Amino acid sequence: MNPTSTLAPVTHAPINDYSAPVRIWHWGNALLVSGQLLTILFQRVIVNARSAVPEFQETMAKENIALTEKQARSLTHILSERIWEWHIYLGLALAAFWLFRVILELRGPSEMRFSSRLMAVARRYRLAAPADKGDAGVALYARSTYALFYVFLTVMVITGIILTYHNEVAFFDQIEHTAEEIHNVTMYLIIAFFVVHVVGVVWSEVVKKSGLTSRMIGGDARKD
Ligand code: HEM
Repeated sequence: MNPTSTLAPVTHAPINDYSAPVRIWHWGNALLVSGQLLTILFQRVIVNARSAVPEFQETMAKENIALTEKQARSLTHILSERIWEWHIYLGLALAAFWLFRVILELRGPSEMRFSSRLMAVARRYRLAAPADKGDAGVALYARSTYALFYVFLTVMVITGIILTYHNEVAFFDQIEHTAEEIHNVTMYLIIAFFVVHVVGVVWSEVVKKSGLTSRMIGGDARKD
């Protein structure tokens, strides 16, 4: 028997297959991040409770009730608080997912660790023949953007926890304003990643016929 036929292609296996925990994490995380973005869409655009203050006043005026701006604001506040409650529930679930990913990274087998997979792609790029450098470079670029995403997610979770518990922890209260600014700005970085990621995956599916999406759903290694 040819001994090489029984050997796994070591440079490919950790790059192309996605194990069940990684796939569950990927889609769960994608859903939760989308949910968080949706809560902000509702908060700032669809419901936009603050802008409804004059409407509350006009509606009550028809009933001969004169609402001051402060009173109307306290009513619209109820709406925005409801959305923030959802944001916090989803946020805590996202924090739990983040923790799971950190544990996987520290304790999980190497094929589930992002760092090992990044190093494998970097190694593949280094060893690639000149003709394959282009494709290997694209793979390395894609994986590097994931590293950035993990940084953004970590920032989001840490600042989100600070905002959630600032009333309970004195130190969090001191840095609440800064955490809020960072949380807000990082959202735009996450949106930018989201766009680049989706465009990249579609490009890889359409141009390279990579089957990336079905591998992230079904988990099969690419047979190349
Ligand atoms: C991709 C994920 C997330 C996005 C896009 C996001 C986005 C935002 C944005 C834009 C704000 C408003 C900040 C401002 O007022 O300037 C906000 C507030 C907040 N976020 Fe997040 N967030 C995310 C994750 C999290 C997580 C993981 C948590 C908690 C663990 C969290 C908890 C909070 C809290 C408590 C507030 C303040 C709510 C309030 O003002 O009552 N967020 N978030």
